[in-house]
Amino acid sequence: MSMNELVERIAVCPGSFDPLTNGHVDLVTRAARLFDRVVVAILVNEQKTALLSETERLALAREVFAGERRVRVDTFDGLLVDFAGRVGATAIVRGLRSAADFQDEWPMAVTNRHLQPGVETVFLVPAPEVSAISSRLVKEIWRLGGDISGLVPGPVETRMRALGPVTRATP
Ligand code: PNS
Repeated sequence: MSMNELVERIAVCPGSFDPLTNGHVDLVTRAARLFDRVVVAILVNEQKTALLSETERLALAREVFAGERRVRVDTFDGLLVDFAGRVGATAIVRGLRSAADFQDEWPMAVTNRHLQPGVETVFLVPAPEVSAISSRLVKEIWRLGGDISGLVPGPVETRMRALGPVTRATP
């Protein structure tokens, strides 16, 4: 057995996760079947207008993935490829729901590989039933008082309900 076969394959699943949706859960679960270890990487600092604080996003993701042995959750700021290097990841996993996603993802994948040739981007196709979910739509439905159950994991739904009408009224 070569040394290469003994090295753990680590992937990063990056995103804003504001909030974590059932689409994200689908993606991370698929990634955990392909890689030895998956680090869910929550981008913080850049998005000052995030609905959920970085502490909340981190706690919720940790709660949701608590049962996934191969998955851990962390926050990052700065360049994604630098974070990937710090955790020893050789892959960035992103979901492709549609051609529109590919249009956004392609320049990022190419640029990230330019910055760090040792890290490949891997695209996974989500389950059809979660393919129309986005954090943006979830927030819009929630802000307008709609039902977000079935779109986000239970702990996220509970947290968003608890934010209440005061937060919902703010633009
Ligand atoms: O959930 P999102 O908002 O689609 O995730 C976007 C994310 C976090 C993957 C992207 O914005 C990112 O990687 N930001 C970190 C800064 C960085 O590395 N930028 C260069 C990308 S080529």
